[in-house]
Amino acid sequence: MAFTFFFRDLDPLTHAVRFLMNAASGRSRVRIWDAGCAMGQEPYTLAILLAETMNPFAFRNVQIFATDYDAPLLETLKESVYPWDELQRIPTELFQKYFQPAEKEGHFRLVDLIRQCIQPSLHDLLTFKPIRDGFSLIVCKNVMLHFQPPQRVEVIRMFHGALEPGGIFVTEHTQKMPGEASHLFEQLVSGCQVFRKSEATT
Ligand SMILES: C[S@@+](CC[C@H](N)C(=O)[O-])C[C@H]1O[C@@H](n2cnc3c(N)ncnc32)[C@H](O)[C@@H]1O
Repeated sequence: MAFTFFFRDLDPLTHAVRFLMNAASGRSRVRIWDAGCAMGQEPYTLAILLAETMNPFAFRNVQIFATDYDAPLLETLKESVYPWDELQRIPTELFQKYFQPAEKEGHFRLVDLIRQCIQPSLHDLLTFKPIRDGFSLIVCKNVMLHFQPPQRVEVIRMFHGALEPGGIFVTEHTQKMPGEASHLFEQLVSGCQVFRKSEATT
């Protein structure tokens, strides 16, 4: 259930960062929600991509709310220590820049610059209640495939309500937008599940 790894599905994340930069330019705060974040590999990847794209002052105003309903997974995220064999997909220069040796041999911890923008919390998506609203970007990948179709629609409606106008929503490439929710989003990249919030409300 919690299969994940650093730099997974880079295409949609890279597109999301590009659209986010256009939508969020000039904002004092950029709020992102990574829903179903498992042990942190995805939100940390996103944070690294943003740190590489934004100027350092703007990056300090990024908040990534990383949620999962599995408490032990969030403990790993908070510790942010991973064994070397899980880090080998990370490009060498980014690994050297954003990881440092941890106390345990063969393990590495994210640097504070990346850790400090992640705000972990327990959250069950099937409550259909968002953790807050005003998000510029919501990422929910490889989570909803386990939900019943009506639950999926309800969760996507919740994400629509939690996004700011023009906010971006990303899911995995095998997850098609359900017909019942398709009027709520405009697909931005063909073949890639990256969407912009439409203003439709029903
Ligand atoms: C396969 S992992 C995906 C991790 C990451 N998003 C990725 O794509 O690499 C699925 C995650 O969804 C979480 N999850 C499943 N059902 C959930 C729910 N109802 N609310 C919140 N998280 C849930 C699981 O605990 C697990 O960590």
